[in-house]
Amino acid sequence: MDPTMNVNEPGFFISFEGIDGAGKSTHINAYCELLKSRFPNRTLVLTREPGGTALGEQLRALLLEAPMHLETEALLMFAARREHVAQVIAPALAAGHIVVSDRFTDASFAYQGGGRGLSIEKLNALEQWVQKQDNGQLLQPNITFLFDLPGAVAEARRSKARTPDKFERLDLAFFERVRQEYLRRAKADPQRFVLVDATQTQEAIWDFLCQAPLAIR
Ligand code: TYD
Repeated sequence: MDPTMNVNEPGFFISFEGIDGAGKSTHINAYCELLKSRFPNRTLVLTREPGGTALGEQLRALLLEAPMHLETEALLMFAARREHVAQVIAPALAAGHIVVSDRFTDASFAYQGGGRGLSIEKLNALEQWVQKQDNGQLLQPNITFLFDLPGAVAEARRSKARTPDKFERLDLAFFERVRQEYLRRAKADPQRFVLVDATQTQEAIWDFLCQAPLAIR
């Protein structure tokens, strides 16, 4: 990780991504505890998307259940994100905090783009709108942990775990497209992405996360 890539100074922004059932939620709380012990003088903000603000959580409830046009879905995801950036992420980074978000914009490219087929141009335009900062650069995580595993393995895990939401009811081919878009983005930005082999045991994944280098100063 090249520290000059850190456009979010003095804070540090980490996101967790992956298809549903990849296991990111199992590790994110423990990872925050690890960060707190490693950086005792920094405030840690754990948040999520869609959500992270009062309005965002209301939008999340709609997004995860109500049927809607694909473009409405993308616009609402980015509307929730606009609020999240303005109210939570940007102020926390400006104050020097460490922000950990359970999903961010990569999920929109993977789910609404790869999974559902919304054009990349429209997603790029929304990303520019919502994440462009005064210095002209896009607000992006410094590091993104991408939990990667085949769609079929994730599906088997999900069916054991919980009642599925609107996205989790989609078929295997959808999740394979989501996965491929995540992988394409990871390949295009290897400085930011850390690929986590989510087919491993929980213990092995945890060891890997603990060893991943962080350019937090
Ligand atoms: P998820 O992190 O899976 O929540 P939980 O683990 O509590 O079920 O996120 C909810 C869903 O929202 C997930 O299926 C992915 C989807 N999603 C998008 O389709 N686009 C987005 O931009 C984001 C942030 C999430």
